[in-house]
Amino acid sequence: MFFCISLIFALSTGILYGSGVAWRENRKFFLSYYRKVDQEEKNFETFISQEAALLVNIISAQCGKPFNPRSMVSNATANVIAAAILGKRYDYEDEDFVALCKGFDTITNVLSSSSVILLNPKVFSVLFLRKEMERLYEAFVATRQILGKLLENHVVNGVDPANIHNAIEAYLLEISCKDENYLKSAHFNPSNLVTNIFDMFGAGMETSSKTLLWSLLYIVEYQEIQTRIQHDIDKVIGRHRLPLKSDRCQLPYVEATIHEILRIQGIVPMAGIRVASRDTTIGRYDIPKGSVMFGNLWQVLHDPKLWDDPETFQPERFLNKDGKLSVPEYMIPFSIGRRECLGKKIAMSELFVFFTHLLQKFTFTIPDGHPRPSFIGDFGMTHSPKPFEICALPR
Ligand code: HEM
Repeated sequence: MFFCISLIFALSTGILYGSGVAWRENRKFFLSYYRKVDQEEKNFETFISQEAALLVNIISAQCGKPFNPRSMVSNATANVIAAAILGKRYDYEDEDFVALCKGFDTITNVLSSSSVILLNPKVFSVLFLRKEMERLYEAFVATRQILGKLLENHVVNGVDPANIHNAIEAYLLEISCKDENYLKSAHFNPSNLVTNIFDMFGAGMETSSKTLLWSLLYIVEYQEIQTRIQHDIDKVIGRHRLPLKSDRCQLPYVEATIHEILRIQGIVPMAGIRVASRDTTIGRYDIPKGSVMFGNLWQVLHDPKLWDDPETFQPERFLNKDGKLSVPEYMIPFSIGRRECLGKKIAMSELFVFFTHLLQKFTFTIPDGHPRPSFIGDFGMTHSPKPFEICALPR
């Protein structure tokens, strides 16, 4: 397992695990592509709202009976990434879509167990579990094949510079403008494009879906918070108009609740792996060149020196005395610095639009006779709630 993970990092030229020129150029490209699309008429918000409305329909079809929201939420968030990269959504039954979601689910599950192994020397022997390695390898191959197929269609059909529909076409156009030497040195090439798409799905799907699942758990447990949010939504948006991301500034309590969920459940507990490029000192510690480090985001988000009573769920901590949203600089669920999450803006809009759509239409409850939800999740690359069931009663 360790060998496999090391190989992934060593060979990766994608944004998530890459470094140097390849990382810089590719990150710059995707950031500016997302910025550009966000200003267009058919921007991400259109896709997110469309997906949120479909999620509402699927939940309505449960007719108030208990259901596990996991797969429906994860399909919806996968489609947001599909919209960001491919400029289209998938049908939930589409063969490639089902295989992609399954593949990323496996990858996150296996890599999640490896994080525990890496941090816990007592279970070091588990590193060599062949079965897990095979599962990981198969999922990598299967997902890369599907993503490669998507690319092939565009390469075969060519790209019309006047009609760019998605990130793949924009990237291929960018490649066609570079000279051969640049391509060799900067790793701006079709193979990296597949890695980047892979990274985007990997980084963007599970994180957002886990945050939404935690949100559902918190509002069923804290009914008074659910009622307050619904009251605010009714006042600002009403029951019929669809929520928009521009409503965010008028709904500070909703924003504060989303921030508190991101804080208390630290969806990505550890930032990506870093290697010291030179000898340095951080606080009391000397860090020799070549040291491998992880940023412990969980610790920062739960540090009692920074947060009053950090283990208590309190959305109000993100409101100032005028009731406006106030986010301290140490609120870092998306990490900080040059490697800060590239999808932060998309994720925050996505969480707001999905959350408000759901609470505008439903009141969520714990099914009769079910135990109270557990807020102890499974730690790994992401922090996931344990499987649970809820009821959604139409409002
Ligand atoms: C609730 C949702 C999300 C959370 C909590 C989250 C959190 C994070 C964190 C903590 C990192 C690691 C930064 C580091 O290593 O220092 C990261 C990186 C990244 N995220 Fe997200 N993320 C979310 C959603 C998304 C979405 C929707 C996308 C894509 C559209 C995305 C794309 C990325 C990429 C590409 C990176 C690597 C950035 C780099 O190394 O330059 N994330 N994210």
